[in-house]
Amino acid sequence: MHPMLIIAVKAARRAGQVISRASLDISQLKVSTKQQSDYVTEVDKLAEGAIIEMLRENYPNHAILAEESGSSGQSEFQWIIDPLDGTTNFIHGFPQYAVSIALAHKGVLTHAVIYDTNRNELFTASKGEGAFLNEKRLRVSNRGKLDEALIGTGFPYRSFDHIDAYLAIFRELTQKTAGLRRPGAASLDLAYVAAGRLDGFWEFGLSPWDMAAGALLISEAGGLVGDLNGEPNYLSSGNIVGGNPKVFAQILQVIAPHLSGTLKP
Ligand code: IPD
Ligand code: CA
Ligand code: CA
Repeated sequence: MHPMLIIAVKAARRAGQVISRASLDISQLKVSTKQQSDYVTEVDKLAEGAIIEMLRENYPNHAILAEESGSSGQSEFQWIIDPLDGTTNFIHGFPQYAVSIALAHKGVLTHAVIYDTNRNELFTASKGEGAFLNEKRLRVSNRGKLDEALIGTGFPYRSFDHIDAYLAIFRELTQKTAGLRRPGAASLDLAYVAAGRLDGFWEFGLSPWDMAAGALLISEAGGLVGDLNGEPNYLSSGNIVGGNPKVFAQILQVIAPHLSGTLKP
């Protein structure tokens, strides 16, 4: 394992300890609202602090973009951190959430860790080195027919600007696929595409920390990731499609007619 990935894994495990401990008594959680349906707990902040402490100890000059504390530093290396992806699930004791950490070098995703504390599943990837679940090499599925595909998504819940386009795409995909799932932690949804558990995924309005690690996992597992045009602009647009190459192309085809008006790729 690359030394930088080893540090990222250590940081993710530290955050995982904070999260697991807190999950034992969720009645004690202090929850605040950032905006409508957007929650944060002290666990998000403590987990993020643990990650940043570990990264700073080892890489004091690297830049950081973290969900709770924002952006700091100037460097060709940038860590992109979601300390607890799936906070709404976490608050409810719904066991689908994860720690997500990625490193970008000169804007290119190079290392990724997603850690699911509930299942003790550690997803890792390094550019050009493949994607792994614990020790096992990952490949995206090879299911090519959309009507056999299981597709993940995230429902709009904070901004409803594109709800009509979203629901039109949802309506079509719900009829054309074997099923849709909304597990509630985008990083894990993407990791599941890398692992072949989902054949594809789409969501609008995500932040870079929701997507960065999962996107590298998918490409290292032989899948494709893009914005709503299939272009590499998803980290800045916030709109992402991922999948095995065949399903990826078919999801883009379903989305294409809805890309008029306000919904941009
Ligand atoms: C959220 C989860 C969710 C997705 C949201 C994200 P958070 O992250 O990934 O699945 O639908 O858009 O914001 O807020 O729990 O870190
Ligand atoms: Ca998130
Ligand atoms: Ca989060």
